Amino acid sequence: MKYMGSKRSMLTNGLGDALSQSVAECNRVFDLFTGSGAVAWHVAQKYDREVIASDLQSYAVALAAGVIERTESIADHRWVDTWFDSARAMQPDSFFQEATVLQEKLEIDQISASAIDAQELCADVNLPVCFAYGGYYFSPLQALWLDTLRITLPNNANQRRIGLASLIIAASQSAAAPGHTAQPFKPNETAGRFLREAWMRDIQFLVKRAVISVSEKCARKAGRAVVADANELAKQVGEGDLVFLDPPYSGVHYSRFYHVLETIAVGKVGEISGIGRYPSPSDRPRSDYSLRTKSKLVFEGLLKVISEKGASGIVTFPAGEASNGMSGQDVTEISERHFSILERKVSSRFSTLGGDKIHRDARQVTEELILILSPR
Ligand SMILES: C[S@@+](CC[C@H](N)C(=O)[O-])C[C@H]1O[C@@H](n2cnc3c(N)ncnc32)[C@H](O)[C@@H]1O
Repeated sequence: MKYMGSKRSMLTNGLGDALSQSVAECNRVFDLFTGSGAVAWHVAQKYDREVIASDLQSYAVALAAGVIERTESIADHRWVDTWFDSARAMQPDSFFQEATVLQEKLEIDQISASAIDAQELCADVNLPVCFAYGGYYFSPLQALWLDTLRITLPNNANQRRIGLASLIIAASQSAAAPGHTAQPFKPNETAGRFLREAWMRDIQFLVKRAVISVSEKCARKAGRAVVADANELAKQVGEGDLVFLDPPYSGVHYSRFYHVLETIAVGKVGEISGIGRYPSPSDRPRSDYSLRTKSKLVFEGLLKVISEKGASGIVTFPAGEASNGMSGQDVTEISERHFSILERKVSSRFSTLGGDKIHRDARQVTEELILILSPR
């Protein structure tokens, strides 16, 4: 899935080698800002090490857990049909029928008219995705499937992990928005066709495809994923552990971009407002790493704890100036105060942040610093 700052492309471009070099000598591996879970998945699948992944946001933790907490791949997917049947059984008939009619007419009706009908249909529905995002990020039928699949997730622990991670992946792949969900495509001349295209995506197909892909992956050693502040969880790091650090570089909180995925992960939503239909700031995780006045201090505090524990580290950060007030140079200087820098390299990464005038995400190449840190 697309994720702002995902390190997936860097795993084959410098970061994979850095990890392989450091993992060889370590006990456990911490991924304290796991995001899309790309690095946690990679390490857990490839190395016989316990991986502990964390993030402030529940959807990121659910994504990581989908792989790192399981040690067996699962080839039998029959449970998915049972899950789909349970979801279908709880869909209110009248809403399902109206949502299906609207879905079938998407290709022929004016998208502006479909959007009005969709918003009216979802406005009073007592289901979080329908209520908050139906008629905006999702068509009513898509929203209904997302809600009911969330409610009927299987009780079996591994199926539930795979199911929730897959639901988040499917939501991310179908949301009518650029690479993130800061605001939905509008039903107008320019963005209307992207809205229609997104609303026509089939949630069951996307969920099943994600299930097949997630279930074939598993960890070589069982790990765990937790919702936690990186600076708090760092206190559990021990001597000989490796800590991967990929802190936020954006001056805007991640929770503003990914509230839709968070609603799906936690299965509820409070008051919403604004063009992006955000939950109120008090209901969204805030990070000191996204505050210009605090980012350097909080990063310094983190490195201090990790170095005092005798762990080693790998840090990635944009090589230049970032919008949260830190730069690659700051990150290098702070790291030098607490660790010996064994290696410093610059890798390029495709970034999905940004977008052109019609809100399509533009892939930009950014230069990213990789520091390999060893305890003094
Ligand atoms: C640059 S992204 C990480 C991307 C990730 N490495 C990947 O490959 O997808 C930074 C992540 O840090 C999380 N975050 C922000 N502040 C945090 C904190 N104080 N503790 C833990 N996670 C935090 C954000 O929610 C976001 O997912």
